[in-house]
Amino acid sequence: MTKNKNNQAIWGSRIKANTSTLFQKVGSSLDIDKRLYKEDIAGSIAHVEMLFKQKIISFKIKNKIIYGLNKIEKEISNNKFEFNKKYEDIHMNIENRLFQIIGEEAGYVHLARSRNDQVITDLKIWVKSATKEINSTINEVIKNTLNLAEKNVKTVMPGFTHLKNAQAVSFAHYLMAYVEMFNRDKKRFLNNLDNLNENPLGVVALTGTSFNIDRNYTSKKLGFRKPTNNSIDTVSDRDFVLDFLYCVSVCSMHISRIVEDLIIWNSDGYKLINLSDKIVTGSSVMPQKKNPDLLEYLRGKSGTTYGNLFSMLTILKGLPLSYFKDLQDDKEIIFKSNDVLIDSLKIFIEVLKNISSNKYKMLELTEQGYITATDLADYLVKNHSMSFRLAYRKTAEIVNFAEKKKKRLNELTLEELKKIEPKLTNNVLKVFDLENSVNSKISYGGTSFANIKKMIVKYRKQK
Ligand code: ARG
Repeated sequence: MTKNKNNQAIWGSRIKANTSTLFQKVGSSLDIDKRLYKEDIAGSIAHVEMLFKQKIISFKIKNKIIYGLNKIEKEISNNKFEFNKKYEDIHMNIENRLFQIIGEEAGYVHLARSRNDQVITDLKIWVKSATKEINSTINEVIKNTLNLAEKNVKTVMPGFTHLKNAQAVSFAHYLMAYVEMFNRDKKRFLNNLDNLNENPLGVVALTGTSFNIDRNYTSKKLGFRKPTNNSIDTVSDRDFVLDFLYCVSVCSMHISRIVEDLIIWNSDGYKLINLSDKIVTGSSVMPQKKNPDLLEYLRGKSGTTYGNLFSMLTILKGLPLSYFKDLQDDKEIIFKSNDVLIDSLKIFIEVLKNISSNKYKMLELTEQGYITATDLADYLVKNHSMSFRLAYRKTAEIVNFAEKKKKRLNELTLEELKKIEPKLTNNVLKVFDLENSVNSKISYGGTSFANIKKMIVKYRKQK
């Protein structure tokens, strides 16, 4: 229960009994939302500056309140602030302390404002700075992915569909696929800011106010494009929380997908990549083991981020307008998702620094599974004027023949090939060369070395 400096409950004049201890315990969000103290104080300062500009409060009161708020900010930053769960949340803790510091005039800070608009204002400001931190961490991920790609432009490996050898690709091209995804993640986070960028402050509990406030002024002060349009919507809306949680989920899904590949490729059946000792753990019983635990940790974390998205969707489903206590959980959920993602991105950067390709093994696997069959079909189209479908059938015949003879395509002799397609000449043999196969995919976005290098340069330049 919130009390002012005379130790009177703020709502004590109406509610006579003390809140039950159990409800105080579960009802308090302080442990979670104290993280918003800077945003809360910035919001309060903008609010009282506006109240003064509109001649609603005096110069003296405004200054006293700002003095008190700045003092509180310092106290909290220096761990000198005494938080008290009795005062429910960060907003009430700050207001209560303001009474202690400046006395009764603290009573003006909450004029034409409610915790309902206050908390969303704080949270929106927080989402903006969280987005910045996430995007600069994603930038680091991209940078480290580019480093690894640069070392592997000519590293040939199988490109898979259905986890079966499909066509040869460069390992760098595979890595650059993730650069595209992480780049989209950044854009996705930024796009959210567009919808979010409307100022909730001043809609008060749910109706707006009869005071002559200036919401454009606080919007400008707090860095919002404009005030929100509808007071009821504003205090009920958590779309921006969902948008953020969705972006976190997608980004953590991307991490989960790449580490899944890395786990498979590190397994003894593949051995396509090596993990340095920095990112593996041992077994308590099997002395030989080096396990990719860290990668598995990252894969698992997408479970948490998806779960959080669904928690929030479920809280909102069927929630009437406008504010309800149910909404208080939004902060725990969004902070958790944010922290998990930041940790995951940082761990993933370590992973990128500590993996290397096993070029020999990659090549060896690429040699299997008739991986140049499509190159052969394309060759027949280009050199022997066949339709693609006819060339496909000829190639299938050649693959069947090679399979029967237990040979790879590049082990077939020209004579053997000519039995199926008499027009073939020696020239055909170069289509079975794996590096040549990779480098021949010169169409925009393809896996040719020149394409990959161009993309690396493009993303190196991007901030
Ligand atoms: N701690 C509350 C929350 O985060 C602040 C809003 C309280 N509003 C109210 N009407 N009880 O949701």
